[in-house]
Amino acid sequence: MDQFIVEGGVPLRGVVPISGAKNATLPIMAASLLANSPVTLRNVPALMDIDSMMRMLHHVGADVVRDKDSLVIDPTRFNVAEAPYDLVRKMRASFYVLGPMVAKLKKAKVSLPGGCVIGRRPVDLHIKGLEALGAKVKVEGGYVIVDKPKLKPAIFSLEGPSGSSVGATCNTLMAAVFIEGRAVIHGAAKEPEVMALVDFLNEMGAKIEVQDSTITIEGVKELHGTEHTIIPDRIEAGTYMVAAAITRGDLTIKGCHLPHMEVVVSKLREIGLEVEPVVGGARCRFANSRQSAINIRTLPYPGFPTDLQAQFSSLLALTKGESTITETIYPERFMHVAELSRMGAEISLYRATATICGVDKLQGAPVMATDLRASAALVLAALAAEGKTEILRVYHIDRGYERLEKKLEAVGARIRRVG
Ligand code: EPZ
Repeated sequence: MDQFIVEGGVPLRGVVPISGAKNATLPIMAASLLANSPVTLRNVPALMDIDSMMRMLHHVGADVVRDKDSLVIDPTRFNVAEAPYDLVRKMRASFYVLGPMVAKLKKAKVSLPGGCVIGRRPVDLHIKGLEALGAKVKVEGGYVIVDKPKLKPAIFSLEGPSGSSVGATCNTLMAAVFIEGRAVIHGAAKEPEVMALVDFLNEMGAKIEVQDSTITIEGVKELHGTEHTIIPDRIEAGTYMVAAAITRGDLTIKGCHLPHMEVVVSKLREIGLEVEPVVGGARCRFANSRQSAINIRTLPYPGFPTDLQAQFSSLLALTKGESTITETIYPERFMHVAELSRMGAEISLYRATATICGVDKLQGAPVMATDLRASAALVLAALAAEGKTEILRVYHIDRGYERLEKKLEAVGARIRRVG
């Protein structure tokens, strides 16, 4: 299994290009199954999770061809209404094939995703969305099963105990596109990745309107193929902004879309990073004098994203004063805390709140990556730490960060991958 060896202490300087968003690409790949002719996607990141979704699309009968950062998906032979455990357990987002199966094949048997290292991740809201649209859903033998659903117009809310759900909103949207009449989803997720799916479906001929947290879907008879460019990855961009801050560097984040990152940028500015919009991106420079501790609460968009919580933990571990992070989306998503503590961070956890007392230095240590964003947090801490850090199990990083070590090396980081 690959590891990263990082020698910390180098302020990063230069330009980091941002890739297409993983979490926008995955539902859009699944939604391509709804078309009656081929779809071309551009700016698709080269990631293990994208490979997993390609395998899933193959499994259900679609043809998928990759050429550099483009994917051509031909859904005309999509005819398999089953997603097996073996494919879904490797990547939760495979569950996105449920909506297209129900809408187009009028039949679905999709494995429940099972456990996840960042905490409990139920799918009750996905099922609630399908049932609200009139489908009878059975959960049997670890599978979600839908057979000959009689989908009908409906008005319902998808709001759950932690607010809106990205996945349930996407799955319900995809299931509803061919209903005769109008479906109205209240309490829908507003993440840029959900809006990207709405745009993609509309480009294929769907009639979907969004107003605040309400999505209205006017059913159409069919969807056609299209060409679509994936939006930039706001979480990758935020991770490199933190890299500029934590190494006291000066990075230009090329291709990021700042309107998707307002709360993240405002938190970075509070901590002391200068974030200046430049043509085609943002320049991020650390201004030592204004460094200050902050409080963060993760929330659905436009709130602070849970997917940047771990990376900010590393930065706050080296930020003067006492900061807090409260996780409202995944209360158990603190696997990085124990590893950061091994590097000298002072973090205490009580329920879903981490209190972080900034220290002057972190020290390199062998650490273990546990999930995608926790792994990114460890790389960031390692870039700022004194001495050498070995990060084990970096396959988590390969699921969601395109060429991470190459992008970091190009701006001066001493990082190498060893097999
Ligand atoms: C998406 O997961 C992302 N994954 C996650 O990114 C991200 O952390 C998450 O949204 C929150 O922003 C993809 O886009 C592929 P949710 P998803 O449904 O859709 C609860 C990363 O690191 N909930 O919005 O699975 C749930 O437990 C990842 O790239 C229910 O209660 O998240 C959570 O508390 C990891 N019932 C909250 O809603 C349900 O049926 C939000 O989850 C579904 C969710």
